[in-house]
Amino acid sequence: MDKFVINGGRPLQGDIYISGAKNSVVALLPATLLLDVPVIIENVPDIKDVEICMTILRHLGADIQPVGPGAYRIDCAAVKDHAVPERQARAMRASYYFLGALLGRCRRGIAAMPGGCHIGERPIDQHLLAFEALGAKVHLPMRYNEKGEQEVDAVELTCNDLVGDKEIVFNVVSVGATMNGILAAVKAKGTTVLVNCAREPHIVDLANFLMFMGAHIKGAGTSKIIIEGVERLDGGIIPGSDEIRTYPVVPDQIEAGTYMVAAAATRGDLRIHGVIPQHLKVISDKLTEIGVTVEEVEDKDDVYIHVYTEPGKRFRATNIRTEPYPGFPTDMQPQLAALLVLSNGQSNINEQIWEDRFRYAAELAKMGANINTTRDGAIVFGVDKLHGANVNACDLRAGAAMIIAGLTAEGRTEIAEIGYIERGYEHIVDKLRAVGADISRQTFPDET
Ligand code: UD1
Repeated sequence: MDKFVINGGRPLQGDIYISGAKNSVVALLPATLLLDVPVIIENVPDIKDVEICMTILRHLGADIQPVGPGAYRIDCAAVKDHAVPERQARAMRASYYFLGALLGRCRRGIAAMPGGCHIGERPIDQHLLAFEALGAKVHLPMRYNEKGEQEVDAVELTCNDLVGDKEIVFNVVSVGATMNGILAAVKAKGTTVLVNCAREPHIVDLANFLMFMGAHIKGAGTSKIIIEGVERLDGGIIPGSDEIRTYPVVPDQIEAGTYMVAAAATRGDLRIHGVIPQHLKVISDKLTEIGVTVEEVEDKDDVYIHVYTEPGKRFRATNIRTEPYPGFPTDMQPQLAALLVLSNGQSNINEQIWEDRFRYAAELAKMGANINTTRDGAIVFGVDKLHGANVNACDLRAGAAMIIAGLTAEGRTEIAEIGYIERGYEHIVDKLRAVGADISRQTFPDET
């Protein structure tokens, strides 16, 4: 069993560089299925979810060649298959983006129900609403799970033609459904209007990528997105040459936010490079509110975020309520909680997106945190310090919270189930070590 082992108490100091966004690249890679020419995608993070996406693409028939650090030439010309392999579909949530992309490309797609972190019920009714509105027939074969309950086993989509020319109104603001709506509509006939869309930076990135390749999309980043269907997406070749164009993945808002909180929690002094500060505003504002200094610095052709805290100063308690972008991201809630457990007073955390996102609270309690969960949130009573303990990464962002807690704690923390963390954070051990953390990845004999 592999674990992260942390000897806490060292402030993070120096410069750290942010990778391409996990939540964007897991949509951009399926989106290459819609392209009629090859493309190069760069700033691709070296994370497990990318490996899974590439395995699926290759299985479907894509040719993927590395062409530099974090850069891949992807050519989907030979793709004939429309079935996502089951193991990979169940291994991550974002495998559902293959459904929208395959529908757009092949007019059919099959995938096992997507897996991913256990943070609550994760329905896909809004995705199906968009597919059906565009003309797809949806078939949901059922199976019995290990508890003997019936559940959806897979999603099968077929259609003769995808036809836009309509307004599709989502009942819930959903990142995944908005992305899938875009993927399915870019090559549909006519104009599709998506209403009540999510506005996250990775939605804008997907739209930018598709527009770079020739799609007609307006309004990404607002709640109404207008997509005029096109027959071909062939903008990947520079006209008059054979040169293939390169698209960089947007910087990871959540990775940057995680290091901002880690810098603050360890009372460090960190310059966080390769970011889009506007995407981090709500996180910067929250940190400022609790007494952390956050500065946006423009230095020649570099823009970075500088985070530092006065030594010995206690953090002020605060309240957080998670909301779709531009509100406070649910994917930063566990990490901020790992800092608030060290604040002066009581903080209330209200989770609006995922109902089961507090399993980390019991893990933080093992380290001395005073945190009580409620029906839709948690109440944190600040303590002076945490102590090291053996804890679990219950999911990806909970795992990041455990790392932050371990970095601040006195003594040694061992974090198990690190597979969750490695799904979404590129080279996290190397990055943290480079800024002064005492963290290592170690192999232990399996517990029986
Ligand atoms: C994405 C992110 C995830 C993040 C979440 C919210 C990726 C790969 N994952 O997940 O890290 O936590 O956004 O920012 O980008 N819902 C429905 N029906 C649907 C779809 C969603 O009711 O068909 C509900 C969900 O139960 C949840 C809310 O809508 O309460 C938001 O979910 P959604 O934005 O779809 O999350 P994901 O796209 O799965």
